[in-house]
Amino acid sequence: MCGIFAYTGSKGKNAATVLMDGLLSLEYRGYDSAGIFLPESGNVKTPGAVTELRKKVPKEFKGKSGIAHLRWATHGEPTEANAHPHSDCTGQIMLVHNGIIENFKELKARLEKTGHIFVSDSDTEILVHLVEEHMKSENDFEKAALAALNEVRGTYGIAMQYKHEPERIIAARMGSPIVLGLGDKEHFIASDPSPILPHTRTVVFLEDGEVAVITPDKHRIFKLDSTGVHRSPENIEWNAEEAQKGGYEHFMLKEIMEGPEVIENTLRGRLVVDKGNAKLGGLESAGAQLENVDRIVVVACGTASYAGLVGEYMLEEHAKIPVEVEIGSEFRYKKPVINEKTAVLAISQSGETLDTLEAVREGKRRGALTLGIVNAVGSTIARETDAGVYNHAGPEISVASTKAFLSQMTVLALLTMFLGRLRGMTQEEGQEIARALKELPAKVQRILDNRQKIEALAKKYIKNRDFLFIGRKYNYPVAYEGAIKLKELSYIHAEGCGAGEMKHGPIAMIDENFPTIAIVTKDSMYEKMISNIHEIKARKGPVIALASEGDSDIAKLVDDCLYVPETIEMLSPILNVVPLQLFAYYFAKEKGLNVDRPRNLAKSVTVE
Ligand code: G6P
Repeated sequence: MCGIFAYTGSKGKNAATVLMDGLLSLEYRGYDSAGIFLPESGNVKTPGAVTELRKKVPKEFKGKSGIAHLRWATHGEPTEANAHPHSDCTGQIMLVHNGIIENFKELKARLEKTGHIFVSDSDTEILVHLVEEHMKSENDFEKAALAALNEVRGTYGIAMQYKHEPERIIAARMGSPIVLGLGDKEHFIASDPSPILPHTRTVVFLEDGEVAVITPDKHRIFKLDSTGVHRSPENIEWNAEEAQKGGYEHFMLKEIMEGPEVIENTLRGRLVVDKGNAKLGGLESAGAQLENVDRIVVVACGTASYAGLVGEYMLEEHAKIPVEVEIGSEFRYKKPVINEKTAVLAISQSGETLDTLEAVREGKRRGALTLGIVNAVGSTIARETDAGVYNHAGPEISVASTKAFLSQMTVLALLTMFLGRLRGMTQEEGQEIARALKELPAKVQRILDNRQKIEALAKKYIKNRDFLFIGRKYNYPVAYEGAIKLKELSYIHAEGCGAGEMKHGPIAMIDENFPTIAIVTKDSMYEKMISNIHEIKARKGPVIALASEGDSDIAKLVDDCLYVPETIEMLSPILNVVPLQLFAYYFAKEKGLNVDRPRNLAKSVTVE
């Protein structure tokens, strides 16, 4: 997720001021690097966010139009060279991009043959050179841009400009949002309406496969095949903060709602369905050492550690490799027995959690191969591990991790296929996992579409001060995750428990005021979970069941029921956690608490 903002006007405003002020409201979309191009003044880029850019932009930087960008790194470290805007060979065509160009390797090879020189590791740079290449034959910026867009695969929200036509800016959308702002003698392009709102409330949202051209006085929209599109403008009632949240009340809800897209982004270019395998380019550098690994120790904290526990079940059952999960804060104090045949796998959204980082360093000291599943590109854990897989989940703003958790489990499923296929997993088994992974986004969407039911349930139980979450096997970590979400957001007592452990203590707490949320989807532990639910009901405990669609029997046994679509057992946590995230969200919201910033907690814990 990156932020794009572009401006063209004839009202005498300085585009540099308009663009830099606007970027500030897009900072939630990325803050690794920033850049701005004004045809009349040039191109300035820097690692860091808008404050860094302001320091670098000279006073005389002025113009009537320009494009600007905030980057959340996906391909390539957050360096100045990788920052946008990217330029063609001549510096005449400039482009900002949010998304991932999937076929960048083949396009790059072709362009290099015709003499194009690339100066960054970014997939975006390929696209601007492709426009340059088409300019040679088309001799027209708009036609060249359209021809180039018709050749790329992947996702994009784009704004591009040609130095010799400073008034005109071209935008395009495929999977990444683009909105046009229609002002009086000025037009805008942005990733969301927030930077546009101080200037105009009249906007047009582009749809996938659409291209737009803006000048100070006009806008035009057409499809990739050049057919014209007419769309009536809308009036935005939101304020800038609501616009950043995509119209949702909180970042947390927005991030939960991004689930389907996040899974797609995590899988993009990595799933080889027909071969029943995963392609994880970031692990290539670990090469032979990875094949020799006979044990994995996952190190992580909080929600990431629960993803690790799900991974333990996946990897042991399907890749036949021993896995242990250690919480980062304990690992380095326990004299861990590891050697060069151990892979220490750090899972961290931020890539900066100190305890996880120190666990990686401890692993290194003891000769282990260190790997990372990290969301923040270029973060310390990403840099210090030997190899790894990025989540591509986009920035997570809300303190409570939600979309990153879905992505972490998705990567672990890919890793299971990748390591499993090296260790005797059959192609058929790999294909089954691959197919089930592909179906997940639509299934998560079905759960999200049903969120009113979860909201009603949160309201019904709002007076309760204690909750137990139970699950088994793959869903035992999900029970822990459901509990941590509820306690961190609502400040009430919530406990996760492997359902088989109930009889060793927790069941003593159960009475009519102590509800249990039971994850009881149709899997190999279903019958055992049903027995556990009977035991709770016999003690008058209210039970909310999280069950598989179509399981009407369970409704007769429990007080309330939430249904989720079925998938293969190892992927069930990726679906089952979503209603629990929503339950915690609505519960805290109903209590009037600060959902995005719960008290006493921080998003990135860089202290011991
Ligand atoms: C904090 C956050 C949690 C997160 C944990 C680990 O406690 O509030 O949501 O799970 O840190 O963070 P990481 O960035 O390493 O995944």
